[in-house]
Amino acid sequence: MNPKWVLLLSIAAMLVVVDGQSAVEPRVKTVKGKKLCDKGWECKGWSAYCCNETISDYFQVYQFENLFAKRNSPVAHAVGFWDYQSFITAAALYQPLGFGTIGGKFSGMKEVAAFLGHVGSKTSCGYGVATGGPLSWGLCYNKELSPDKYYCDDYYKLTYPCAPGAAYYGRGAIPIYWNYNYGKIGEGLKVDLLNHPEYIEQNATLAFQAAIWKWMTPADKHQPSAHDVFVGNWKPTKNDTLAKRVPGFGTTMNVLYGDLVCGQGPDNESMNNMISHYLYYLDLMGVGREEAGPNEVLNCAEQKAFKPSSSSSS
Ligand SMILES: *[C@@H]1O[C@H](CO)[C@@H](O)[C@H](O)[C@H]1NC(C)=O
Ligand SMILES: *[C@@H]1O[C@H](CO)[C@@H](O)[C@H](O)[C@H]1NC(C)=O
Ligand SMILES: *[C@@H]1O[C@H](CO)[C@@H](O)[C@H](O)[C@H]1NC(C)=O
Ligand SMILES: *[C@@H]1O[C@H](CO)[C@@H](O)[C@H](O)[C@H]1NC(C)=O
Repeated sequence: MNPKWVLLLSIAAMLVVVDGQSAVEPRVKTVKGKKLCDKGWECKGWSAYCCNETISDYFQVYQFENLFAKRNSPVAHAVGFWDYQSFITAAALYQPLGFGTIGGKFSGMKEVAAFLGHVGSKTSCGYGVATGGPLSWGLCYNKELSPDKYYCDDYYKLTYPCAPGAAYYGRGAIPIYWNYNYGKIGEGLKVDLLNHPEYIEQNATLAFQAAIWKWMTPADKHQPSAHDVFVGNWKPTKNDTLAKRVPGFGTTMNVLYGDLVCGQGPDNESMNNMISHYLYYLDLMGVGREEAGPNEVLNCAEQKAFKPSSSSSS
């Protein structure tokens, strides 16, 4: 058979499966007065979050295709790599923990848009006059193209020793750099990324898992995760308030990038690019950018970093 047809047929088969999965009714039980659910592969393990709509209920293949419309165009740099199924499979690990499943469908959609806003901005090859507009080029990359170093930090030679010959350049959906970051994320995912950083550029499910892990995991003790600050799990302390850190999208950038983008005033291009992707995705998902809230929660222009200095970078 013509390979093109095989591909089309397998895509068709996948659509049917995905469609079937989104209709799954959760199994329900009550433990100490709390309703818990298990929804099979997508939301497994008796969690209250699994009683709610899950990501495949409100975010479908066509929406993923709209958000990342240009990723498979001939000039893109990771043609054929990223797909919907990899995202959903990766998200399945974290939905029982609240990723995309807190507070009902509408809040879930906002979190998915926010997470993907980070992803789109970090993997975009769009520029001002690109066809389709600069925001339609997310997931254009899956790795740094011309790394000029190995990103091996010897300070961690006991905890996260660099494997001979391995290069820890940027890879993934929210790119990972440096041996210690590959090491930490590998521990989190129970995959030996320290010895095999290349797995991230070979496996889109793993690449999305690593990005969602970053979103769900605090960078440090006494710090919230991006997920926590976005969904409102995090309650700002007095210090946070003094540092202008408020729950919302702006503070997710503080968690993930610190003073590389935050506290640099309203003109930081990297900050504004992430915000633009988030708003664009809210529109495309049918939520609408007006739901993103006021400018104070959207940006981090005046925020102090949770952890000053660039050591909070990725
Ligand atoms: C499930 O969704 C409802 C709204 O539909 C929301 O009130 C509730 O908090 C959600 N449950 C959890 C555990 O987030
Ligand atoms: C890709 O990564 C996922 C998640 O870690 C894993 O389950 C899967 O087996 C991997 N696929 C391949 C082809 O290695
Ligand atoms: C609040 O900030 C002050 C001054 O920077 C610091 O000494 C104190 O430890 C902080 N408190 C907390 C709870 O982080
Ligand atoms: C702000 O954004 C740009 C991206 O244009 C980035 O390179 C720069 O380092 C950022 N941070 C600061 C402190 O200006």
